[in-house]
Amino acid sequence: MGKDVIVACDFSSKQAVMDFLDKFTEEKPYVKIGMELFYAEGPSIVKEIKARGHKIFLDLKLCDIPNTVKKAMSVLSGLDVDMTNLHASGTIEMMQAAIEGLTREDGTRPLLIAVTQLTSTSEERMREQLLIDKPLDEVVMHYASNAEKAGLDGVVCSPLESEKVHGRCGSKFLTVTPGVRFADGDIGDQVRVTTPAKAKELGSDYIVVGRPITAAEDPVAAYRRCVAEFVG
Ligand code: C5P
Repeated sequence: MGKDVIVACDFSSKQAVMDFLDKFTEEKPYVKIGMELFYAEGPSIVKEIKARGHKIFLDLKLCDIPNTVKKAMSVLSGLDVDMTNLHASGTIEMMQAAIEGLTREDGTRPLLIAVTQLTSTSEERMREQLLIDKPLDEVVMHYASNAEKAGLDGVVCSPLESEKVHGRCGSKFLTVTPGVRFADGDIGDQVRVTTPAKAKELGSDYIVVGRPITAAEDPVAAYRRCVAEFVG
């Protein structure tokens, strides 16, 4: 599985995302479409970006009863996305149903990645609000292991957790890692950050990079710098 840089296109309109993608005349970056853009523009935005030749990670983080997730995944698979995701907290049964829904008639399907615990969830919130008493990293590893048991392809995690996830779930189990910043860049609201080079060293399979590219003065140069550091 080749390593790649996924650009988080956190824009709120088609105009803004297309203006951004128009800057890339030579390469076709792997694009992450999140809830904001998808809910603003609908499924057609996925088709349009795909038609321009980009791979797409559709980041909608599904979580519902197995039957509903299965049916929704079947619709997303029909949009021809390359990667999508769900919450591992929806249970192994929900994750298995998601794979069934995603699998096309010819047996192919997009990659399916699980969110374990959101990085906005602290151990204290987990204990007090969700009544989960275990340490956060144990919960993250257990959810990753559930995802692997359900047949998923990987998890979203910090580059700092990649090695542990690979140790527990196997080297082929993908780690898709946000929280990436250039050594000389602004960290913004991210807390635990690593550089693209460090993420590569730690074994990340894909890095998800937003503002260091989208808010750069020269986004194409920033993208190329990420690729040079991460893919090599
Ligand atoms: O702009 P920045 O590089 O921080 O963007 C990171 C992207 O990864 C955003 O789309 C953000 O929602 C997403 N993400 C994250 N941390 C997670 C899961 C997803 O930053 N744990």
